[in-house]
Amino acid sequence: MKHKTIIEPFKIKSVEPILMSTEQERIEYMKKAHNNPFLLDSDQIIIDFLTDSGTSAMSVEQWAGVMRGDESYAGSKSWKAMEKAVKNLTGMDYILPTHQGRAAERIIYGYLGGKGKTFISNTHFDTTRANIEYSGAEAIDIPIEESYHSSLIHPFKGNLDTHQLKALIRQKGAENIGAVILTVTNNSGGGQPVSMENTREVSKICKENNVLFLLDCCRIAENAYFIKHREAGFENKTYKAIAQEMFSLVDGAAMSSKKDALVNMGGFLSLRDKKIAQECTNRLIITEGFATYGGLSGRDMEALAIGLKEVFEPDYLHYRIKSTTYLGEKLHKMGIPVIMPIGGHAVYVDAKKLYTHIPPHQYPGQALVCELYIKGGIRTVEIGSVMFGKYDEKGELIPAPMELVRLAIPRRVYTQSHMEYVVETFEEILKTKETVKGYAITEEPEFLRHFTAKFEKL
Ligand code: F0G
Repeated sequence: MKHKTIIEPFKIKSVEPILMSTEQERIEYMKKAHNNPFLLDSDQIIIDFLTDSGTSAMSVEQWAGVMRGDESYAGSKSWKAMEKAVKNLTGMDYILPTHQGRAAERIIYGYLGGKGKTFISNTHFDTTRANIEYSGAEAIDIPIEESYHSSLIHPFKGNLDTHQLKALIRQKGAENIGAVILTVTNNSGGGQPVSMENTREVSKICKENNVLFLLDCCRIAENAYFIKHREAGFENKTYKAIAQEMFSLVDGAAMSSKKDALVNMGGFLSLRDKKIAQECTNRLIITEGFATYGGLSGRDMEALAIGLKEVFEPDYLHYRIKSTTYLGEKLHKMGIPVIMPIGGHAVYVDAKKLYTHIPPHQYPGQALVCELYIKGGIRTVEIGSVMFGKYDEKGELIPAPMELVRLAIPRRVYTQSHMEYVVETFEEILKTKETVKGYAITEEPEFLRHFTAKFEKL
């Protein structure tokens, strides 16, 4: 018999209680948090969809690995295990451990960047862009045109526009391109995958122009799932073989292991070129730690090595992608406007389409984030004009292109009944949508305001 229900392919051995709360209590908590869920305490939350980063549940094997962790300063056995796992996956000779993704980014883009350099990506993640711009270089996003249309169905909406890539290399001069970076899956573009065909084309263009080609590979296993099921010729390949093929097309990769390595902390740089690796190792030792631990404990490296294997297990990946799709498609069928097709790690709701009566300067995304918390204790993040809005000379808001709310799903943490609870909360969101009011910002810092800004309901 073939079952319809895709069950979680694990049993729960250790549990972390969720503190239940009433709507009235949450109204009080939210008041104290100035209507910004970043300012809530974690025990005031029922379902935490703030991020899929560093929030995975580890397996029994990983916890056993934690006990085996070798905390030697140099040449630790746990480093050897991590190095072997990363080398096996990426096929590259030089592996540098870092405490998380942005540390790897600071090292590599600090070295490759600088004034006059240009970096080109399908979409630079915020920290990637910040590290590039901090070095004095510029970061340009060129996703394919389809990625700008939230309801349009395309199998690989994370792809990079290769025509624009060629034009940009010509315009800027190949010698001024710091690197081309493919982010797989494309987090800022809705968690959408990149195809092998697109990766091959980008690789070819980079080779012809002698431009460095890198992967931001923090969700490489999820991307491999989409390739196997959507791209011709990959049906019979393993997820790992698909990932290995993708790595074979690039010169290097930066990973935040807090995603697809199923750990709570960790990252790495993987490089082919000896000179770049040496330069990066010097920077690593100055700011992260010795070359055989980066910013990590032995136990972290041990868990990371195991997580990198577990993430490619077919039952795990099938459950992972199907459970994200399950939530997303249920919301879609109910009439909640979501980015389609559903991506790998998150469901993105288009708050501008949901709350058509709330203009961008009253932050429709923030309104939905607050509603989801009050109605269901669900914490999500606004990716719209709160996060990316700017002011003109007159102090008027220049809104972000989209007003999205991200429901990022931690790996191996929530069950199907948690998803049903979220769907039920959205039913109430739909029923009451006309009565929802916008928000005004009452206090904000100069940079990255979404983390600490305070809001007032209008
Ligand atoms: N690249 C991508 C595509 C990411 O999504 C992230 C983090 C990073 C790099 C940076 O890694 O956090 O380990 O320093 N994304 C998290 C998120 C924060 O919520 O999407 P980090």
